[in-house]
Amino acid sequence: MTDTRLIEVAFPLKQASLDSVHEKNVRHGHISTLHIWPARRPLAACRAALIATLLPDPGNAEERKKLLEKLGGTVVEVVKKKKLPSGRVEEKKVEETVGGILHWGRESGPDLEWFRQRIRDAYGGRAPKVLDPFAGGGAIPLEAMRLGCEVTAIDINPVAWFILKCTLEYPQKLARQHRPLPKFALESPEFMEGFFKGTGKLTKKQLERNLQAVQTKLFPPPDVDLAWHVRAWGWWVLQRAKTDLERFYPVVDGKPTVAYLWARTVTCKNCRATVPLLKTRWLCKKDNKRVLLTMEPKADGTGVRFGVQIDVPVVGGNSAQRREHDKRVGSGTMSRSGATCPCCNTIMTMEDIQLEGQAGRLGTVMTAVVVDGPKAKEYRRPTEEELKLSHEVQGGLDRVFREVPFGFPNEGILEDAKRNTWCVQYGADQFYRLFTPRQLLALGTFVKLTRAAREAICAEGYPSEWVEAVAAYLGTMLDRLANQSSSVARWNQGGEKVEGTFARFALPLLWDFAEVNPLAHTSGGYPSAFEWVTLAVSHLSHAAKSMPAPQSIHQSAITLLPNDIDIIVTDPPYYDAIGYSVLMDFFYVWLRRTSHELSPEIDMAFRDLLTPKWSHEQDDGELIDDASRHNGDKAKSKAAYENGMFRVFLACHKALKTDGRLVIVFAHKHPDAWETLVSAIIRAGFVVDGSWPIQTERTARTRSLSSAALSSSVWLVCKKRPETARPGWDNRVLEEMHENIATRLRDFWDAGIRGPDFVWAATGPAMEAYSKHPAVRKANEPGQLMTVSEFLRHVRRIVVDFVVGRVLSGNGDAEAVSGLDDVTTYYLLHRHDFQMDDAPIGACILYAVSCGLSDSALADQYDILVRTGGQAETEDEDEEVASENADVEPEEGTGSKVKLKAWRQRMRKSLGYEAPGGRPVPLIDQIHRLMHLWKAGDVIKVDEYLEAKALRRNVLFHQLLQALIELAPAGSEERSLLESISNHVVARGVVAEQVQRRLPGI
Ligand SMILES: C[S@@+](CC[C@H](N)C(=O)[O-])C[C@H]1O[C@@H](n2cnc3c(N)ncnc32)[C@H](O)[C@@H]1O
Repeated sequence: MTDTRLIEVAFPLKQASLDSVHEKNVRHGHISTLHIWPARRPLAACRAALIATLLPDPGNAEERKKLLEKLGGTVVEVVKKKKLPSGRVEEKKVEETVGGILHWGRESGPDLEWFRQRIRDAYGGRAPKVLDPFAGGGAIPLEAMRLGCEVTAIDINPVAWFILKCTLEYPQKLARQHRPLPKFALESPEFMEGFFKGTGKLTKKQLERNLQAVQTKLFPPPDVDLAWHVRAWGWWVLQRAKTDLERFYPVVDGKPTVAYLWARTVTCKNCRATVPLLKTRWLCKKDNKRVLLTMEPKADGTGVRFGVQIDVPVVGGNSAQRREHDKRVGSGTMSRSGATCPCCNTIMTMEDIQLEGQAGRLGTVMTAVVVDGPKAKEYRRPTEEELKLSHEVQGGLDRVFREVPFGFPNEGILEDAKRNTWCVQYGADQFYRLFTPRQLLALGTFVKLTRAAREAICAEGYPSEWVEAVAAYLGTMLDRLANQSSSVARWNQGGEKVEGTFARFALPLLWDFAEVNPLAHTSGGYPSAFEWVTLAVSHLSHAAKSMPAPQSIHQSAITLLPNDIDIIVTDPPYYDAIGYSVLMDFFYVWLRRTSHELSPEIDMAFRDLLTPKWSHEQDDGELIDDASRHNGDKAKSKAAYENGMFRVFLACHKALKTDGRLVIVFAHKHPDAWETLVSAIIRAGFVVDGSWPIQTERTARTRSLSSAALSSSVWLVCKKRPETARPGWDNRVLEEMHENIATRLRDFWDAGIRGPDFVWAATGPAMEAYSKHPAVRKANEPGQLMTVSEFLRHVRRIVVDFVVGRVLSGNGDAEAVSGLDDVTTYYLLHRHDFQMDDAPIGACILYAVSCGLSDSALADQYDILVRTGGQAETEDEDEEVASENADVEPEEGTGSKVKLKAWRQRMRKSLGYEAPGGRPVPLIDQIHRLMHLWKAGDVIKVDEYLEAKALRRNVLFHQLLQALIELAPAGSEERSLLESISNHVVARGVVAEQVQRRLPGI
């Protein structure tokens, strides 16, 4: 094959991004429904990256275009109709892909087969070897397997490794096998009805006839695939669980319970009343259904009496008033400062609550019950029996956990430096404390039955590998149930459903939580757990058919990796973005119990009390920047992480064949952190020659990708540097970089890549000139080396000048911006991409760095940015009281938000006269000063200012003015002021000839 891969030249960026974002809505059969794992990458992005890395670049534009289209399809704009709760139908234009193999549902079929064949051809007829040393939830290895590659997936975390076995190994090993349905399934008309309905379209008559045939044993046990067996045994567990547990979830008035809603309580330090800790009292809040929990202080002052109010009226003339009213009537007891006692109004501060929690004095009270009514969910107060039952389980608990290996889940919850597990500070420092007694009883019972199912499968005489696989999937069902069944699960008042523990990747202490009925068929119960797991198994079995056997290895990536690998595609942990092990210990404790003695290999992986963290003796472990593992020493922790990553890159270098490729996914919140990792990659012996920013998450306000949507991950492409490579000189390297990217920039622009994506797409190809040398020396500073950061500063400046050139002159002529100051360049980039809206901080930091600035300088010194912290955008979020780190997901891409300050808000006296540190006054400040002067109506002052700053003869001034007019919304005061200033300048007639030529409107 040629030594250039498709990914080094082109990539179906927009298609991969669209299909990746779409995949977030997909449920049926997706691996995310098998088991939760944080930061799972979308399959579409992984598939695209793998194919483009495995296949050679065709070498000519036409063939390349064809190949890209076959891979990603084409992008079309369609109008989607959405029915709003009010009944109104909203029309929205959206982009989507047609054709290609990236979209969910298009991953099998002749086109995929075509790619499989091309990949084999590219490797001389053999299956290429693909490695992912940080495999996590298995998205990358699964896709590599689907493409027919020989896959090795490594992860240090036993839970991830277990998921990898379920995702890759069992389906591949057992996908072609069919075995008779177990006897108990045949004997159950309910199960068999589901079976007949699920395996073919039958008329009612045919169905009845089949069921009769089963009853009279005329129907022989059908041979079915793994997924059906998993479903059958899940069903077996459920039937037995019903017998054991049904009495704890009584059906009242013929309406089965969906969930019990709870509030934690604290004793008031003043009046000793029991104070419920409620963030909100809304039980359901939709346009057409509004239910509230009412709360009255009891006459004796010992606490409150709850009630349920249905059909809460809408009050207020406009949406702001309505929102305000709803906020008031639905307010709970919690605020930022603490909890207010409803009896005496004393505030229990967060510290008070924390101390009470640590002393074990926080209680719980059931506030309401959600039931399945004939038409919809209904809300009511709990009955006396229900209140009693919820406490009556204590004795049963001991009995159940005596039969569970390792007994009661009292393993400690670890706190990390980022406080991902801040429940600990409130006394929830052992896993069992995250569950109500009834939840523990239910989970213990399901563990016991999951283990009993394994015995029963064995007893039916199935082979051991079959038993292991089915039992492992039953383990994942239990984990799904645990996720839904903890006191970290909350009631979603808009969706009327339980949000599981890891709706956000943190373990907080929820003040008000929901206890799902595990036997209920509504979402969150065990029946839905086995439904989802079965669908995933079915999808995986299909993907794994006739594939080479994958290998999942439980070890650290720092340790030796396998040899002779063709490509490594991996998505490493990123500094402190996600506390994988401290959080996933939640599942570890349950998996350890369900899967104990399933196989010696599994017992080995789960031998310790909790998942591995960091071993100082071995200088190895989970690669997370977590100072708590280094006695709080932040510098040591960062260094351990960076050094560990460097060692992994070295190991990858060793593992790869000479012509191998390494593709690494990075989240890019801080360019400096990114630069550190890129330096490590280069030091490890790689040349970086491509980078593609793939949008993998939905943005809060979905923008069209062409208008600079935020990309959440950059896929960096690297190849091995020849050993003969020699150090380079900075001037030569920069020259070469200029030449290399001139045409690439135009190509990327023509391909519709915009915004921060454009900067990232250009970075990879630009890096080649630098990274092909083991070191780059400075020609004018003997003994000094040019750092990656210094080099990237040059690259980014070229890239942003290109963009700003397009914005200013419409032709991409970088000359057009020579001389434009940094702050104005930043302003234009930001304004062009995000207008005056909230913008993701990650993109803004990137732009700031590209302009030689920082986001804080732009906010604090230049006064053109304001931090908005990504204020709540929905009504629901409005009501969430941010309590400490309250369930805030640590995102990998962006954190808070910023926006441009409007000219009207820029009131500093020095605006347009002075700049920080005596630097030249940014042109944007001069224009904003002019706008203030014009608004004040003082034309003489305007003219004096124009004169003093020599603006009339400044080509950039005219270009910027014109660009700002176009960027300002039509009909806005801003636009009208700018137009007036522009007309005024023209009317005075002193416009440079050059300007007249460039601005036809003048
Ligand atoms: C970003 S996640 C991978 C997610 C994965 N790409 C997916 O789609 O699910 C990073 C993974 O690295 C693993 N990890 C952390 N330190 C490791 C180490 N030293 N060796 C191997 N894996 C490690 C974590 O357990 C985590 O699963």
